[in-house]
Amino acid sequence: MPDEVLEWLRPIAGGVYLDGTLGAAGHSRLILESAPDIRLIGLDRDPAALEKATDVLADFKTQISLHHCTFDQAAQVMADLEIEALDGMLLDLGVSSHQLDTPERGFSFRYDAPLDMRMNPTVGETAADVVNQWEGKELSRIFFQYGEERYARRIAKRIVEQRQQKPLTRTGDLAELVRDVVPGGHRPSRIHPATRVFQALRIQINQELEQVETGISRAVDLLKPGGRLVVISFHSLEDRIVKQAFKEFSKGCICPPKLPVCQCNHQPKVKRLTRKGVRATPAEIEVNVRSRSAILRAICRC
Ligand SMILES: C[S@@+](CC[C@H](N)C(=O)[O-])C[C@H]1O[C@@H](n2cnc3c(N)ncnc32)[C@H](O)[C@@H]1O
Repeated sequence: MPDEVLEWLRPIAGGVYLDGTLGAAGHSRLILESAPDIRLIGLDRDPAALEKATDVLADFKTQISLHHCTFDQAAQVMADLEIEALDGMLLDLGVSSHQLDTPERGFSFRYDAPLDMRMNPTVGETAADVVNQWEGKELSRIFFQYGEERYARRIAKRIVEQRQQKPLTRTGDLAELVRDVVPGGHRPSRIHPATRVFQALRIQINQELEQVETGISRAVDLLKPGGRLVVISFHSLEDRIVKQAFKEFSKGCICPPKLPVCQCNHQPKVKRLTRKGVRATPAEIEVNVRSRSAILRAICRC
């Protein structure tokens, strides 16, 4: 959503911006091109994204600093750079097209590859670890909670049965298992029957919802008065957290409703700029089908 990001972030000349989800640096490049003398801090937990972004932003070498970390660590990076506050921050959540389209990263059931799914392949459990080691009850919980999968219990039960014969190590093994368990799984339909299970595992492996929750609440305190935070989410679980957090931070009085006069004197931290989430235009959806599920929300620090 390039136009919408610029519209809501509204970069100013000489401003300091942080892109917490650098990816291939498409948005970062736009921000740098949109006004003179912008300073941009770029973060990504995926070393491959940083490598790509370094190339894409080569023309802006003197204006950028790129860091390998998660966006909830933005405050530490800013302290190291001796930057006190930001004019704006962007979080374009989720997985990148590059990650999805690189078979060996194991994000997609479209390719048969090792079950990995870590955005940062240097740390943490892989999807194979989770699928082969977690209790059935826990697997069922994440498929239901993070994938909103109706057949969560059945799928978890089949995984536990199958791994006793042979561990599930490939995306293809898991996709096939889910397809067999889900009623009508072999019928062609708009989405692959394993979509929800893959989404759930990815969210779990990368602690995506925890990152959004802590990342946003910390981000608000890093903005200058008038500084903007723009967040793009790609599924309802993420968007719900963003929407709720923005609502909380924009609250003034938090006295119990029965008190006739405000006694808390609580002040809103932010103003919501987008009451309703902003969607991609039909023209963008036509060229980039992933943008169909994108929802953008923006706030401005009081
Ligand atoms: C949707 S892509 C961003 C695309 C980018 N806006 C562009 O224009 O190319 C999301 C990127 O954010 C990274 N990412 C996701 N969660 C992150 C987190 N908690 N901290 C840092 N990076 C994260 C992913 O590794 C991925 O490269």
